[in-house]
Amino acid sequence: ALEGDAERGEAAAGTCVACHQADGMGMNNPNGESWPRLAGLPAAYIVKQLHDIKEGRRESPSMMPFANMLDDQQIADVAAYYAELEPWPELPTAYHAADPNDEAEWLAERGDWAEGRMIPACSQCHGPNGQGVGDSFPPLAGQHAGYIVSQLEAWREGKRHNDPNDLMVGIAERLDEAQIELIADYYATL
Ligand code: HEM
Ligand code: HEM
Repeated sequence: ALEGDAERGEAAAGTCVACHQADGMGMNNPNGESWPRLAGLPAAYIVKQLHDIKEGRRESPSMMPFANMLDDQQIADVAAYYAELEPWPELPTAYHAADPNDEAEWLAERGDWAEGRMIPACSQCHGPNGQGVGDSFPPLAGQHAGYIVSQLEAWREGKRHNDPNDLMVGIAERLDEAQIELIADYYATL
């Protein structure tokens, strides 16, 4: 993998601020397209997403022209820049018993196995409290609700098919609309 340079990345990210904002925190737009928080995402995850968008494994008319402007070195550079911008908040990692009366927390920490729905706990891959795991499993805590909803819908509609193991597709398909809203809100406000 190319080594990224955060200083060069900042210069290359000049056009990204229109949507992802100067602090890389993105924006939740309840009535339109939400822009994801990039600040603090793992560099390798950002690199993968930009290649996925360029090569059409993630279909986004808004994002594609900007991904297309970047060559491989610039992708590594902007990824280094955003990864360093603001660390993801440290969330408690200790196992805690999910509250069965809190539907969102239960879904996040235990999944939904009723009536054959077979939805694994989000925390199995995204970590306790959605803090992310390594380079492959992005943090969800503090990500924008509108963006989380849009990605779950993108998987359902086949617009995001960038996961080689299709881990998210089946999960997104088996969640119902109410659960999607609920889990997006839960992680956005953790
Ligand atoms: C998604 C980077 C410019 C709108 C993303 C993602 C990255 C990224 C890494 C994926 C985030 C994730 O998976 O969590 C950049 C960079 C830019 C740039 C480096 C500048 C070169 C823009 C601009 C807009 C925009 C100017 C608005 C016109 C979006 C949207 C998504 C996205 C809507 C979600 C795409 C989807 O639904 O799949 N961007 N971005 N981005 N960005 Fe950008
Ligand atoms: C990515 C939600 C469970 C594996 C994502 C993203 C969302 C999400 C919103 C996109 C993040 C972004 O673009 O920044 C959820 C929810 C879950 C869940 C709500 C529980 C209902 C899981 C599980 C696994 C998993 C159980 C593993 C078996 C992944 C992977 C990605 C991802 C690998 C990144 C795919 C890529 O490379 O683009 N998830 N997830 N998720 N999730 Fe999940």
